[in-house]
Amino acid sequence: MSGKVYLVGAGPGDPELITVKGLKILQRADVVVYDRLISKELLNFCKIEAEKIYVGKNIGDYVIQDEINELLVKKAMENKVVVRLKGGDPYVLGRGEEECLYVISKGIECEVIPGITSAIAVPAYAGIPVTSRIYSASGFTIISGTKAEDKLIDEDYIPRKGTLVILMGLRKIENMVNILIKLRNEREPVAVIENGTTENQRVFTGELKDLVNIVRSNNVTSPAVIVIGEVVKFREYLWKFK
Ligand SMILES: C[S@@+](CC[C@H](N)C(=O)[O-])C[C@H]1O[C@@H](n2cnc3c(N)ncnc32)[C@H](O)[C@@H]1O
Repeated sequence: MSGKVYLVGAGPGDPELITVKGLKILQRADVVVYDRLISKELLNFCKIEAEKIYVGKNIGDYVIQDEINELLVKKAMENKVVVRLKGGDPYVLGRGEEECLYVISKGIECEVIPGITSAIAVPAYAGIPVTSRIYSASGFTIISGTKAEDKLIDEDYIPRKGTLVILMGLRKIENMVNILIKLRNEREPVAVIENGTTENQRVFTGELKDLVNIVRSNNVTSPAVIVIGEVVKFREYLWKFK
């Protein structure tokens, strides 16, 4: 008999942004395998005897992903309730689907508990809704600024209109901005939000043409969400943290 793996979305940083369902499963877990970007405060909800294993990875770290997959299977085979606690939502640019497929391929049950993604919650905490009728932003697109094997971002993923939310966008920022300026308006409003939803949140705004300078001059570091579009103008009226 084997245990079960739960892929639980921890939310974007504020520990209270985990779902009730996710929290209940976390409290039952025998083993918690957790990422770099989850709030460590969440680990206080685990059973005292729960085994907590940190597997924070660096960008492009493919070896460790295999090790994580193996670890989940190994622990479940010991008949344990295994929580794989992932930042934001497990299925938004988080490789949760790969982990789930691997676990299932070994004959072990795997269930996903969705989480609040940083792509929506981080802008929201900074006073930026990702859609709006007021600014004719009737849709939004989430893209990764960093592709597998270090490739440049694919222009086909960049919409000409609507709000664009970029995760993992800092590493290739110069290249990315050059592509964005070709496809969108260089005067479009942008926001860069570092450590969103946490007490260390920092927010910078400006125009797309100045994005590289905004990031460099303020020494913005990961994790950060970049938002491009008219909706950034809402920040002036809706921001939460001062
Ligand atoms: C590997 S992706 C995982 C995304 C996650 N699955 C989600 O739904 O939020 C990690 C990226 O999410 C963004 N991110 C996650 N948490 C963040 C936070 N608290 N503040 C700003 N950006 C964050 C950053 O762009 C970071 O590089």
